[in-house]
Amino acid sequence: MSFTILGTGKAVPEYVMTNDELSTMVETSDEWIRTRTGIEERRVCKSETLTDLTVTAAKAALEDAGITAAGLDLIICSTMRGENITPSQGCMIQKELGADCPAFDVNAACSGFIYALDIADGYFVRKKVKHVLIVSMDNLSNITDWTDRSTCVLFGDGGAAAVLGEGDDLLSINITAKGDDRVLIIPHGSNSSPFYEHEEKKAVLHMMGNEVYKFAVKAMADGITKSVQDAGLALSDVDCVIPHQANIRIINASAKNLDIDREKFFCNVQHYGNTSSGSVPLALDEASHSGFIKKGDIIAMCAFGAGLTTGSCVIRWNK
Ligand code: UT7
Repeated sequence: MSFTILGTGKAVPEYVMTNDELSTMVETSDEWIRTRTGIEERRVCKSETLTDLTVTAAKAALEDAGITAAGLDLIICSTMRGENITPSQGCMIQKELGADCPAFDVNAACSGFIYALDIADGYFVRKKVKHVLIVSMDNLSNITDWTDRSTCVLFGDGGAAAVLGEGDDLLSINITAKGDDRVLIIPHGSNSSPFYEHEEKKAVLHMMGNEVYKFAVKAMADGITKSVQDAGLALSDVDCVIPHQANIRIINASAKNLDIDREKFFCNVQHYGNTSSGSVPLALDEASHSGFIKKGDIIAMCAFGAGLTTGSCVIRWNK
């Protein structure tokens, strides 16, 4: 007995930043960004805090699931950087919801939602919980180098939450890590110690895009193939794929490599860019509420990100 997804909810900042606006900040163009990434616009936090967004998504997911915060047994927040170093973002969400359960954060970059699902699976298997809230959210605009055109055009703020209940709709799940701080890193900012002897690196995202691209295309194919096999299914049984929304070209290449009909891949990267940990659940929430996925569908989800991490799983949609 593991879990079923009872409800989802999303939260994104109000401010929409277009490619044209970005073109006034760095040497780029709407045409370059669209053709190389598929991104048309992204959301950027102005007045909203990460806590505002995580709590909005959590409340929407609870409402969708039809349960109250009092019914939660565990809160897991996947994020690369909570509002504070401590308390955790999970504890901030717990406070704002008025819940009374353990809460903590997990950092697996863009694979965070699937890592959180895997952790939750363990709690369900050990019968420690009946309802778990996962909130996956990143606020990348405050760690983006807005003068670096090779990265600042790719990312956006936002994410989503999911409420899990007892059930048997998780059919397989896999997470991997391959320690690497060369191709994608966001260093910490200031170090207050007067004794520290190392050079401080700028606290912004540094990425070797081509290297991540190659890793991503292989990770998507390998992850989905393994999770589908582990579920005892064939690729042809998959009704819908919810891929990490980093670049439309990565999604197109994955569809081709896997020989899964491209129409089965849900995409919203054009509206949000890459929202890191928020990306997969934000796509899942929109796929659910737009009717792209239906009760009984077999859904494969797959993500990759800094770490380098990957996560993939197969679930039966039961809403
Ligand atoms: O969640 C994981 C996070 N990361 C990713 O998923 C990133 C994966 N990687 C990618 O999506 C792609 O590698 C990028 C979108 C980052 C880059 O696309 P690309 O087709 O690999 O472009 P490139 O890096 O090879 O650059 C091609 C050209 C270069 O100019 P030259 O050297 O050919 O003259 C770049 O300087 O495009 C230039 N360029 C830009 N031009 C206009 C790079 N960024 C831009 C830009 N606007 N924003």
